[in-house]
Amino acid sequence: MKRLIAFLFLVTSAPWCMGASENALVDSVYINLSDNASLQRGARLFVNYCLSCHSAAYMRYRRMAKDLDISEELLKENLMFAGDKPGDLMKTTMPAGYAKDWFGVVPPDLTLIARVREPDWIYTYLRSFYLDEGSPSGWNNSLFKNVAMPHVLYGLQGNQRLISKSGEDDGKPVFRLEKPGTLTPQEYDDVIRDLTNFLVYLGEPVKLDRYLIGVFVMMFLGGLLVLSYLLKKEFWKVLH
Ligand code: HEC
Repeated sequence: MKRLIAFLFLVTSAPWCMGASENALVDSVYINLSDNASLQRGARLFVNYCLSCHSAAYMRYRRMAKDLDISEELLKENLMFAGDKPGDLMKTTMPAGYAKDWFGVVPPDLTLIARVREPDWIYTYLRSFYLDEGSPSGWNNSLFKNVAMPHVLYGLQGNQRLISKSGEDDGKPVFRLEKPGTLTPQEYDDVIRDLTNFLVYLGEPVKLDRYLIGVFVMMFLGGLLVLSYLLKKEFWKVLH
């Protein structure tokens, strides 16, 4: 019985351990896929600031609107390029050839980015752009050295300089905000959390359902375990 309890503990605690990031240099972000308001804000940000270069070509506008409780009118008015239809895939309008000429690389599709990189990585990456006059775009990123992506959210965050690559006690870089954006640093962090939340949803839209099904399955198996144990006791009572 002790071994059984130890096994159950191991099985149920594993998913929590897997969520934690292994990279000590990234900041952790709280992801909550049932926070619909945050997902909606993230979607608006994504469409307005990211979709011009990146696609999310495995997702359709209509599916996103349905999952996030966005009405079709709101979808058409605020979240779609003119000319797109709700049933279309979320594709960028930027031709890959131009992107390659401008940036040297084609901006990758972001549908699965939160599964390739971790949420913590994305959250940190989008807060780690700094001015760098030596780079072609004028920007660099302390998490992604010599990144080809310009800091498209500088209007919100402002311009920051890298003061030290590993100046903090925990080895994290130190920035100095040279020119504030329209948001305060706390507001900017919140906005990036919404965007990261949305990218996690994008990578696995059925995740929330999957969690729910998982809980039901575990409860069912738990009930079955108790019944089997009682049955076993009953059997052995007769045999002894
Ligand atoms: C002006 C074009 C442009 C816009 C707009 C843009 N990006 Fe990018 N992004 C790029 C390019 C180019 C790269 C490739 C960088 C490289 O490989 O050096 C990139 C890379 C990335 C990566 C890293 C991918 C990897 O290699 O793991 C992430 C994450 C990302 N972008 C997220 C975003 C998000 C979120 C937004 C919206 C806030 C956004 N990008 C807006 C051009 C853009």
